[in-house]
Amino acid sequence: MNCKRFFFRTAFLILILGTIGFKQVLSQPKAIVRMGSLNTVSFDQGWLFARYGLQPDGTRKEEPSGLEASGFEDISWKKLNLPHDWAITGPFRIDLEGATGKLPWKGIGWYRKHFTVNGSDAGKRVFVDFDGAMANAKVWLNGKYIGTWPYGYSSFRMDLTPFLQFGKENVLAVRLDTENWDSRWYPGAGIYRHVWLVKTDPIHVNHYGTYITTPQVSDQNAVVNIETTINNQSLKSEKAIVKTSLFELDASDKPTLKVAVTKDTIIVINPGEKKLTSSRAVIDMPKRWSIESPHRYVAQTTIHIKGKVVDTYFTPFGIRTLEFTAKNGFLLNGKRVQIQGTCNHHDLGALGAAFNLSALTRQLKLLKEMGCNSLRTSHNPPAPELLELADKMGFLVWDEAFDSWKKGKRKNDYNKIFDEWHEKDLMALVHRDRNHPSVFIWSIGNEVMEQQNVELTKHLVDIVHREDPTRPVSNGYNDPDGGRNSGAVVALDLMGVNYFFDQQPRWDADPRYANKPTLGSETSSCVSSRGEYFFGGTEYKNWQITSYDVAKPGWGCSPDEQFRTNAKYPHLLGEYVWTGFDYLGEPTPYNSDETNLLNFRADASKKEELEKQLALIRKNNPPSRSSYFGIIDLAGFPKDRFYSYQAHWRPDFPMAHILPHWNWPERIDSITPVHVYTSGDEAELFLNGKSLGRKIKAPGKDFRLVWDKVMYKPGVLKVVSYKNGKLWATDVVKTTGVMSKLTLSADRKTIKSDKDDLCFITVKVTDESGLIVPRSNPSIRFSIEGPGEIVATDNGDATSFVSFQNHERPAFNGMALVIVKARKGAKGIITVKAESKGLTRGATKIQVQ
Ligand code: GAL
Repeated sequence: MNCKRFFFRTAFLILILGTIGFKQVLSQPKAIVRMGSLNTVSFDQGWLFARYGLQPDGTRKEEPSGLEASGFEDISWKKLNLPHDWAITGPFRIDLEGATGKLPWKGIGWYRKHFTVNGSDAGKRVFVDFDGAMANAKVWLNGKYIGTWPYGYSSFRMDLTPFLQFGKENVLAVRLDTENWDSRWYPGAGIYRHVWLVKTDPIHVNHYGTYITTPQVSDQNAVVNIETTINNQSLKSEKAIVKTSLFELDASDKPTLKVAVTKDTIIVINPGEKKLTSSRAVIDMPKRWSIESPHRYVAQTTIHIKGKVVDTYFTPFGIRTLEFTAKNGFLLNGKRVQIQGTCNHHDLGALGAAFNLSALTRQLKLLKEMGCNSLRTSHNPPAPELLELADKMGFLVWDEAFDSWKKGKRKNDYNKIFDEWHEKDLMALVHRDRNHPSVFIWSIGNEVMEQQNVELTKHLVDIVHREDPTRPVSNGYNDPDGGRNSGAVVALDLMGVNYFFDQQPRWDADPRYANKPTLGSETSSCVSSRGEYFFGGTEYKNWQITSYDVAKPGWGCSPDEQFRTNAKYPHLLGEYVWTGFDYLGEPTPYNSDETNLLNFRADASKKEELEKQLALIRKNNPPSRSSYFGIIDLAGFPKDRFYSYQAHWRPDFPMAHILPHWNWPERIDSITPVHVYTSGDEAELFLNGKSLGRKIKAPGKDFRLVWDKVMYKPGVLKVVSYKNGKLWATDVVKTTGVMSKLTLSADRKTIKSDKDDLCFITVKVTDESGLIVPRSNPSIRFSIEGPGEIVATDNGDATSFVSFQNHERPAFNGMALVIVKARKGAKGIITVKAESKGLTRGATKIQVQ
């Protein structure tokens, strides 16, 4: 064969093969499981669990030795699937502290899993990836100790290979200890996030081994830099070719159109070596990731040895530019974006800390509807899925590492492990999360005790910069003067200020910080209970808090006050409201946790006042077990405040919202103030058709319209709002009839019969005409028919001690929640019913796929 023919034949073959390869991806796109190795499978099913140490009733059960041994008799242990929170089943106990939810989360938990890896996999590396285990995890395989990871919020990998028996039964044992962990909120307990089994060739892309950046981005093209760390865990030196192809990634995580390919990188890698490779590609006409259209790409990296693909690794990423300025705020893709964020703890209400994708998706949808565009993962690394959802749904994320450093806020918090673990935990966070387009700010802490410590601040900032120089590093300050005066803030790229926003002009005048972009890392801390309204200046009653959205702790302010402050300083980046959702624990102002005092470290008089309040709370021991800070309650039902934020954050969305409800038989002819949130600029209120006057918002000053002299008469309250003189939105609140029936509405009509998919069903107590009856709290019994089960129930009442697993509970101000799932692998129709004595029962149907 002559050379020319050979060349053409080969080129033709390459073209055909290339086209087939390309087509395969196009015609049979397979959704990627998650960032990382192609051979990643869920390892959540079939675990055994036993609890030692502190028991739910406060007694102790001795922890025997040898629980990690392969032959240990674990037949009597509880069978369960992960994620699992051993404390959420309670019971709530009045003697336990409100700060951590009055739930018995302290204890020693053991998990064991029997499993087999195919004999044909012999020679591979086998890892288990834990997304998070609370806390002080220690791991053994077949009785042999493999390793530990104390911080319950970090994701970590354990290498099983050295002690794994291929083709035979293996036993993985995990010991968790929350007795030696302290928290200011409910942390949960157990292997509360997903676990994955990963099998790779001995030569593979390292754990979190890719780092993708986009140093140049224009409308015409984007330069994509890909750093890949290759790990050789074999006993041989090898010549490897690393190739990366870039695809568009659709909303269902399928790689679609191939948009670029990097040049091959050829390396020789020695046994035991980790080698960093770099490559580059250009994407033409890149589609930017943004809040409105969160476009994603995925890099597929393959390692080839002797012509064979030995490893495939996926890295989703996005293309966007970030600019943080002291004068013009924050710019995403060159456009000013005001940060309209919420802080959120990690629990998912009635599900506890056990991670669930449906539950988090529901939360983020609600936040999006409110106009929230950013999430602060207060005060710890989130579940990886939070970032995946944020990437997909278009949220910016303030990704936070710690609530304390070397000096703790509580005895056994992070301070106990800081010295040994802070660098590893920071690296675990940054390496895991640095490819997510949603992550735009790193935070090294929240209100840590060492806010004034120049060296420590710089040390932590340096670690993060070393691992990712492309994003700014911040810290949430509640001692901003201290931090600025000492110079600790100099090391930060961004200043995060909790609650002291109004002192900005003084700080702007300090030349050291003239170019330091600043934002409200925590704001407002308004507290309220959904559907509770008190009059005549009363804000607190029966361990509940008025929903007029005026109550706040000494360091906080109402949403309106915060909006006014923000309007005065338009050069600031925005705010993170404390909090989007109510969470388990920290039921301020009924919280006796002494760490509240930290908010007044610089103000002795306020501290004294708070100390007195704390003494009183301790004496009265309130039943409150979850927070009142949420804009949305623990069950996921919006409080009135939701509409305050929606009105302000979505100015182009026509809406109006009246509060309170209009069922006040005891207030006939008494003054009953009416407040209206609207995205319009003026509104007229009518009671039974009679105008109570038109009110106009003063721009930058008014964020609600108030009719404070309304004399209550039953009937119909109607508001008509206007914008720029044109009709904009209306809302109506009616005095209802007596309770008559229960109506159920499911958040989805169809659910999957996989292990995790959940349906959230709202139950409303209504009158004959279907209006929710306020202040109605009848006891409701839930039942289910068909291939499903009730997972939990709730009603958003922060003082309820009814177990979340109960199938009967009272409504709270006319509403309750029931969460159901389908039986694994089942098909058919689930019918969920709710019954209450004297009321017409309600039902809803859900299709199981
Ligand atoms: C802040 C603190 C938060 C939460 C909040 C309540 O000082 O950072 O974690 O405790 O107060 O207002």
